[in-house]
Amino acid sequence: MHAVGIVAAAGSGLRLGADLPKALVPLAGRPLVAWSVDALRAGGVTEIVVAVPAEQRDAFAAVLPADVRLVDGGASRTASVRAGLAAASAAADVVLVHDAARPLTPPDLVRRVLAALADGHRAVVPALPVVDTTVVVDDAGVVTDAPPRASLRRVQTPQGFDRAVLASAYAGLDPAADLTDDAAVVRAAGVPVVTVDGDERAAKVTVRHDLDLAEATVGTTSERASQGAPATEERNELGVEPCAR
Ligand code: C5P
Repeated sequence: MHAVGIVAAAGSGLRLGADLPKALVPLAGRPLVAWSVDALRAGGVTEIVVAVPAEQRDAFAAVLPADVRLVDGGASRTASVRAGLAAASAAADVVLVHDAARPLTPPDLVRRVLAALADGHRAVVPALPVVDTTVVVDDAGVVTDAPPRASLRRVQTPQGFDRAVLASAYAGLDPAADLTDDAAVVRAAGVPVVTVDGDERAAKVTVRHDLDLAEATVGTTSERASQGAPATEERNELGVEPCAR
């Protein structure tokens, strides 16, 4: 199965308080986007397209392997993924769309998504249970509903799709649409979306605390490895090896 990965990396670092694009913010000395690309590769994705802020192409090229294709992203995540999809090889059977902001995504999670696609599902998302009570509020912040959390899930990336299904869903989408993930795009086209188990380590880095947590995770894992713990699998899982360029 030929899998192409599209990494959405064209966002700003605003909520992180960074003065460079979030995807270039370093985690243990390496930009988030380099970790995310490694995770996809370690999980079996063979071709990678990264959507970047147009004015930052050189900075991204300097930190990514030479065979990663860069495209100019758009004003919204939806526009960035659309640009990545247009650049992806038409020979690919499946597409995995991934946030650059999920640096510690374990390769096993990538493999689970690919396995579900190989089983014939056309749209697959990793999902985790909701542990907090989750409520709906009105404009004044007053709670209007509290849906039973047993049926709620937090959805992560990489999200996997049959390439033709995703391309056709994007082709039918309003050019101005701004959706928070790609499953929403195919659901709008009437395609069923199935879930596989997500992983807490695939958490999205949004605010400074998320980055601190990711730094702590890398630190703990490296420390364990240096103490002779099961180093190989964990090091690979976290993509600790430097990327080759
Ligand atoms: O803003 P948020 O954290 O939800 O963004 C998720 C991912 O989408 C990030 O990796 C970000 O770089 C990417 N993105 C993008 N183009 C945009 C906005 C966000 O590729 N215009």
